[in-house]
Amino acid sequence: MLFTYKKNTLKLQLMKRLLLFLLLPILVFTSACTCSTLAQSNDRVIKTPVPVRPAGQTDVLQLRAEPIPLVRIAFIGLGMRGPSAVDRIININGVEIVALCDVLEENVKKVNTRLEKKGFPKAKEFFGDTAVWRKVTALPNVDLVYIATDWVHHVPIGIQAMKDGKHVAIEVPAATNMDEIWALINTSEQTRKHCIQLENCVYDFFELTTLNMVQQGLLGEIIHGEGAYIHALQPYWNSYWDDWRMKFNQKHRGDVYPTHGLGPVCQAMNIHRGDKLNYLVSVDTKAIGNPAFLKEQRGVEVKDFRNGDHTTTLIRTEQGKSIMIQHNVTSPRPYDRLYQLTGTKGFANKYPVSDYALASEAVGDEIAKNHENLNAHSFVPKEVKDALMEKYRHPIVKDIEEKAKQVGGHGGMDFIMDYRLIYCLQKGLPLDMDVYDLAEWCCLIPLTEISLDNNSAPVEIPDFTRGGWNKLNGLKFAE
Ligand SMILES: NC(=O)c1ccc[n+]([C@@H]2O[C@H](COP(=O)([O-])OP(=O)(O)OC[C@H]3O[C@@H](n4cnc5c(N)ncnc54)[C@H](O)[C@@H]3O)[C@@H](O)[C@H]2O)c1
Repeated sequence: MLFTYKKNTLKLQLMKRLLLFLLLPILVFTSACTCSTLAQSNDRVIKTPVPVRPAGQTDVLQLRAEPIPLVRIAFIGLGMRGPSAVDRIININGVEIVALCDVLEENVKKVNTRLEKKGFPKAKEFFGDTAVWRKVTALPNVDLVYIATDWVHHVPIGIQAMKDGKHVAIEVPAATNMDEIWALINTSEQTRKHCIQLENCVYDFFELTTLNMVQQGLLGEIIHGEGAYIHALQPYWNSYWDDWRMKFNQKHRGDVYPTHGLGPVCQAMNIHRGDKLNYLVSVDTKAIGNPAFLKEQRGVEVKDFRNGDHTTTLIRTEQGKSIMIQHNVTSPRPYDRLYQLTGTKGFANKYPVSDYALASEAVGDEIAKNHENLNAHSFVPKEVKDALMEKYRHPIVKDIEEKAKQVGGHGGMDFIMDYRLIYCLQKGLPLDMDVYDLAEWCCLIPLTEISLDNNSAPVEIPDFTRGGWNKLNGLKFAE
């Protein structure tokens, strides 16, 4: 009996070894295949060149410049957007409008007359052609060059202004291709001048309050964010100087206006302050609306219009979060920036309903006592939302909310943006947004185009800090 058992056990062991002997090559082969598939899929991520940081140059994270008690400003680009910036900034103490510049004389004169009527000294005037701005950046008595031209002129002006010793503030999107983005970064790092993108949407009241909630942990860990620029531009297409905006859309596929949607989400996710954008994939529709507009309004038949009506982009971050960004400037939809944050303990949503949903245990203190029935699956009642908005009002808004609403600019957010820029320059503090924010938010323009032209292939988003994305521990506005 014992013998039979031993014999059987021996047989079994022999069979096992034989099986292993036969299976081993198959296992090795399969795992080799898996590895090579992974390697292949890594290879499938399209990468764009990252220029080596020139020797002697360091990053500009938390860059501080000498305090400038009286900020002397030159404005370049006075079309639809620029003049409202002048109107806002004159409401801030400690600024002087030194120069006004536009290709068109009438644009400059109009703003200067307005300045004079409001009791301010007239600024020096520059107009006549697309190169006249060179005289402005060269002026010795200017601290800040504020650029609101068409997109093509943003970067040459910005770079020269920094080389001429000025800080620069550039309208959105500050840059539209990777060469421009890297050139702005390198120039800011070399000259140690601020290069800020004028992204106003991060200063809207709901976004600022929500950012404060996020930073205080009310929504838990933010794992997913959404943003968009959905704005039917038909009433404005014919008003842009030299038709620059339609021309850009006609020539470029992809999300050509991503910063309003992406900016507030990146701030809530601490991008390049503990996390980084790793890669994106993009999908678009065919182009119908804009070619139809050109046909109907201008009698022009365009068969190769590049920008699709609706573009959707997905991003994954180093810390395992996802972001969805949309662009649509033609469909008859209500204006929409989405602004949605999904956290482990709560949810924020701005359009079409701006409200919060909270896991009940995350509400805490007074609010929870009054409202027992909160759950994470519906928006909080109006009185709770109002209480939350009050409780989490962002500290940078507290002193200036009334003035911001009175001065205006998209309901006040534009004034808060200008106020913060001047405040930080006057006090020599790091600005709320740096050149790497500019780069991360603008890079969707070239990178979504690459993804779309390659059947929605993943495209790497470079670490624009070149190694510094984890140096800072979260986003903090200087006070
Ligand atoms: N942040 C926002 O909410 C917001 C809103 C609107 C526009 N913008 C941005 O503002 C910028 C301007 O947009 P806009 O609607 O005023 O366009 P616009 O066409 O009305 O104005 C552009 C102006 O720039 C001038 N210009 C062009 N090239 C110049 C040069 N080389 N030197 C001097 N002046 C030059 C033109 O003469 C024109 O007056 C764009 O970048 C746009 O995306 C931002």
